[in-house]
Amino acid sequence: KRQPSRKGSMADVPKNLLQEIENLENLFTVDAAKLKQITDHFVGELTAGLEKDGQNIPMNPTWVMGFPDGDEQGTFLALDMGGTNLRVCEITLTEEKGEFDIIQSKYRMPEELKTGTAEELWEYIADCLQQFIEYHHEEGDLTALPLGFTFSYPATQDYIDHGILQRWTKGFDISGVEGEDVVPQFQAALDARKLPIKLAALINDTTGTMIASAYTDQSMKIGCIFGTGCNAAYMENCGSIPKLKHMNLPDDMPMAINCEYGAFDNDHKVLPITKYDTIIDENSPRPGQQAFEKMIAGLYLGEIFRLVVVDLHENKNILFEGQDISKLRKPYTLDASFPAFIEEDPFENLQETHDMFREKLGINATKPELELCRRLAELIGTRAARLSACGVAAICKKKNIESCHVGADGSVFTKYPHFKARGAQALREILDWPKGKKDPVSILPSEDGSGVGAALIAALTLKRIKAGNT
Ligand code: GLC
Repeated sequence: KRQPSRKGSMADVPKNLLQEIENLENLFTVDAAKLKQITDHFVGELTAGLEKDGQNIPMNPTWVMGFPDGDEQGTFLALDMGGTNLRVCEITLTEEKGEFDIIQSKYRMPEELKTGTAEELWEYIADCLQQFIEYHHEEGDLTALPLGFTFSYPATQDYIDHGILQRWTKGFDISGVEGEDVVPQFQAALDARKLPIKLAALINDTTGTMIASAYTDQSMKIGCIFGTGCNAAYMENCGSIPKLKHMNLPDDMPMAINCEYGAFDNDHKVLPITKYDTIIDENSPRPGQQAFEKMIAGLYLGEIFRLVVVDLHENKNILFEGQDISKLRKPYTLDASFPAFIEEDPFENLQETHDMFREKLGINATKPELELCRRLAELIGTRAARLSACGVAAICKKKNIESCHVGADGSVFTKYPHFKARGAQALREILDWPKGKKDPVSILPSEDGSGVGAALIAALTLKRIKAGNT
């Protein structure tokens, strides 16, 4: 195996494909000037979201009111309902500062659950919790454990153990939950099984990520998820949150804000939306929502790739002429691992990509066709990383943060090739950092936000209640 030499490999690509590659480059490339324009608009939208509800970016107060100091202790359950898996953890924050023990089990979320009913969802989750408890504990050895529930969807919270689901995101479409407080629905399913669990805090994965990261690194100021969905949380001062003014909280009191910035630019003012992005939006269960997320998050990267390839075959007669592409016609057949795999193919002749096309899709691709697909994968992955950087840059600009660490998690961040380097490069371009110096803001892999982060938030909440501040 050896690293491909791109220049050489493009030499035998025929003119019409080269022309098409150029078209795609024009379509998917976002230059520094555009990134800056997007970021500046983003800053205004973050501010607008803090002013009143119903803006593009929800900017949800989370009632997480401070960072951990490392002395948090106790045993907690954490439940993570992400986009793909359900995970249950039992976490003991030990006496040793910043240390913890963890046991955990993962359960696959059945696909049909995502479009089912509220009852089915809560029953399934309660079943998983019951299994976990029965597996890890003898009957009766457990006194009620506080639970941090990482529920990674936009929720309006008036306090920390409450949350009205604003809308489903990430392709979920479960009836009977939007507009409702999810906590009583969830707690009822637990109570019906007499499970010794009490929900202490409802948490977003970004907030969990920020808190978990800050537990071991005090320079961590922002938590991000680049995964099935895309979002960030940061710490604001209550004095800068006009929509909380009626609560009369001290101006300098910290409050973690779950931005929900996947919804950035739902009114299409700045994002360079392509016809493929429009198709994704129109065919999604919630058209008109999560405009930013639909261009960059893991759930959509494979689908963008698929839509382009089908278009080039069908309307431009450029790819896979005369071949049966019926397998490729099924929406969401390809997930983000498909373009990721192509980008990682170490062979100059794209042998592994060729085999994957044949085995997964029954398509026998020529070398030039594979070259186009590789360039397309690079373009989609690069656009995602560069646009993602705008959200982080916008928070830094809004808060006048000159240097900090950003804790990040999610499948795209941890697995998509070159995502980190491309994102860092975009940050440099947006924030005009001097060349040759260490980046003042760096996005680093976080501690486990929906496990340790959720436990820490549960601990911080109980501590606050004990101190008499609800
Ligand atoms: C979606 C959800 C948000 C979550 C993000 C990452 O944007 O709405 O709550 O943080 O995905 O999982």
